[in-house]
Amino acid sequence: PFVVTENCIKCKYTDCVEVCPVDCFHEGPNFLVIDPDECIDCTLCEPECPINAIYPEDDVPAGQEAFVALNAELSKDWPVITTRKDGLPDAKEWEGKPDKLPLLER
Ligand code: SF4
Ligand code: F3S
Repeated sequence: PFVVTENCIKCKYTDCVEVCPVDCFHEGPNFLVIDPDECIDCTLCEPECPINAIYPEDDVPAGQEAFVALNAELSKDWPVITTRKDGLPDAKEWEGKPDKLPLLER
């Protein structure tokens, strides 16, 4: 499956959600995740993210391995999102910032 990684935190642009043919994106307060049990590896979402936060599970950036389990866990709790909405208000400032994991809201 594909995995949403750290760069999405506090940005949440949601361009990724509308292309998913199986509606496997789930929305939290400041992050999205992909349900690994639903993702069919179609690859369509990966190029949609303007800040390159989406990777195949086998290719997540070094140090971000924890996001594989986080996507699996949080997708069970959060509701499905299928319609694009505006990114978070200060998303531009948070693009590409390192070490955002402690800022993830549940
Ligand atoms: Fe959905 Fe395809 Fe992305 Fe998986 S790879 S989350 S099926 S758009
Ligand atoms: Fe996040 Fe990128 Fe989607 S910022 S919400 S993974 S478009």
